[in-house]
Amino acid sequence: MEENQGILELDNEEFINKIQEKNIKISVIGLGRIGLPTAVAIARSDLPTIGVDINQKIVELANIGKLRINDEPGLEEALQKVINTGKFSATTQIKDSVSDADIIIVCLPTPLENDSKKTNYQFLIKGCCKIAKNLKKNSLVIIESTVGPGIVENEIIPVLEKYSDLISGKDFGVVSCPERANPSTILTDFNKIPRVVGGINEKSTNFASHLYQFVFKIDVVRVKNCKTANAVKVVENVFRDVNVAFINEIAIFCDRMGIDVNELIAGCKTKYNFIPHFPGPGVGGPCLPVNPYQLLDAPESENILQVVRTARKINSEMPKYVIKLVEDALKEVNKKLDNITIGVLGISYKPNVGDIQLTPIKEIVQKLKQMNFKIKIFDPFFIKKEFLSIQTEENIENLVNNCDVLILGTDHDEFLKIDFQKLKKLMKSSGIIIDTRGKISSIEVRNAGLVFRGIGTTVK
Ligand SMILES: NC(=O)c1ccc[n+]([C@@H]2O[C@H](COP(=O)([O-])OP(=O)(O)OC[C@H]3O[C@@H](n4cnc5c(N)ncnc54)[C@H](O)[C@@H]3O)[C@@H](O)[C@H]2O)c1
Repeated sequence: MEENQGILELDNEEFINKIQEKNIKISVIGLGRIGLPTAVAIARSDLPTIGVDINQKIVELANIGKLRINDEPGLEEALQKVINTGKFSATTQIKDSVSDADIIIVCLPTPLENDSKKTNYQFLIKGCCKIAKNLKKNSLVIIESTVGPGIVENEIIPVLEKYSDLISGKDFGVVSCPERANPSTILTDFNKIPRVVGGINEKSTNFASHLYQFVFKIDVVRVKNCKTANAVKVVENVFRDVNVAFINEIAIFCDRMGIDVNELIAGCKTKYNFIPHFPGPGVGGPCLPVNPYQLLDAPESENILQVVRTARKINSEMPKYVIKLVEDALKEVNKKLDNITIGVLGISYKPNVGDIQLTPIKEIVQKLKQMNFKIKIFDPFFIKKEFLSIQTEENIENLVNNCDVLILGTDHDEFLKIDFQKLKKLMKSSGIIIDTRGKISSIEVRNAGLVFRGIGTTVK
C-alpha cells in the first residue's frame, strides 16, 4: 500500500492487515467522560491516537496522565501507560490530529437545553465543521455522540461535506456508533457491551466494525444505516425511562393502598416475562432524561409516542412527591416548620458515582430551600464542595448532627450500612427518615424510634 493511500481505498482484508500492523492513525474529538477513555482504550491496543479537546486544562492534565474525575477505576493508570508508550497524546489543535488521521471518532457533547427541552447539537456541529476543514480524503468519521435518528443524515453529513468540499460515500465514510457505556464502569463496559454500528455504506460499516472488534474484543451489531444505530441507543434508554415512570406511579399507588412496592416487585419478578425496574426520586445523568427528547425532536414523532411524553412528565414530577413525603412526615410528628434542618444523603444521580448531571436531587434541594428549611448535604464524592450555594459536609456525623429530617437521595454503598439506633442519638427528637431509593429497612428505622417515609415503601 502506498504511504498516502487513504483507508477507504483498501479492501476489507487490506484494512484488517493494516489494523493488525497497528498502522491506522486515530483521532478522538472531545476528551470528556466518553472521549478520553475511548482514546486511551484505542491507544492501549497500540494504535497511535491523538485526542483533541477545546479545554486547555483537560489537554494539559491528560498529557501528564491526570484526570478531572475520580470515579473511573483504572482509567488514570491506563492513561499513564499509553502516554509512556507514546501511543497517546492530547492537543487543543484539531488540525494537528485530524489532518493526518485515518479514522476520526467524535465524542462531543449533545446536552439538553433545560428550558426548551431541545437537544443542543451546536457543539457537535461546530466540531464537525472544524473536522471537515481538515478532513483527509478517504478517511472515516465515526459519530459516537448520542443524537436523535436522522440527525447524522440531515445535519452532520451536510456540514462535513460543505466544509470539506468532499462527497460522503465517495470521498469519505461516515458511521454512527453511539456510546452505550455507563459512568464509573466505562472501561469495563467497553469490553462487555456490544457495539451497534450503522454506516452510510457497507465499507464504512465494515471498517468501523473491524476497528471496534480489534480494540474492544466485543460483538458488533451491524445495522442498515446511521439512523437505525442512533435509534437503538435512544430507544434503549427511553425503554428504561418509560418503565421507571411506570413503577414510580405504581409506587405512589402502593403508598395509597398500603402495599410495599419492593414486595410487589419481588412477587412480579417470579413471572418469567416481568422485567423489574425500581422507583426513585426521578431519573438523572446524561442519557435517561435527555434521550426521550431526542426521539420527540423528530418531526415523525408528531401526535404519537404519547407514552414517552407521559413517562417524562411522571419522572420529572417525582421530586414533588418526595417533598410531599417530607411534609406528610412533619405533620405526623407535629413539628413547627420554622426551625427545621434537613440533611440530604447523596446528590449524585445514581449510586457510587460522582456525577450530578441532571440529578433529581437538585430539584428536591431547591424546593426545600424555597420552603425555608435549613439544608445540609453529605456525599462522599462531593466533600466540602458547593451545591446550590450550600457547602457540603465532611462526613455523615456532621450531616446528621441536629437534623430533624434525613433524606436518602442517592443509595451510595456506604449509606446502606447506617446504624439507625446510633443515628437517632445524633438527630433532634422525633427524627424522620425519607428513603427515595427503596433501600432502607422501614422496620429498622421504626424500631429505632424514628418516623419513616419511602417512595412506595411507607406501609407499616
Ligand atoms: N457521559 C456518559 O455517561 C455518556 C454515556 C453514553 C453516551 N454519552 C454521549 O457521549 C457524548 C459525549 O458525552 P460526554 O459525557 O463525554 O461529554 P463531556 O461533556 O464529558 O465531554 C465532552 C468534551 O468535549 C469537549 N468539547 C466541546 N466542544 C469541543 C470542540 N469543538 N472540539 C473539541 N472538544 C470539544 C469539551 O471540552 C468536553 O471535554 C454525548 O453525546 C453523550 O450524550 C455519554
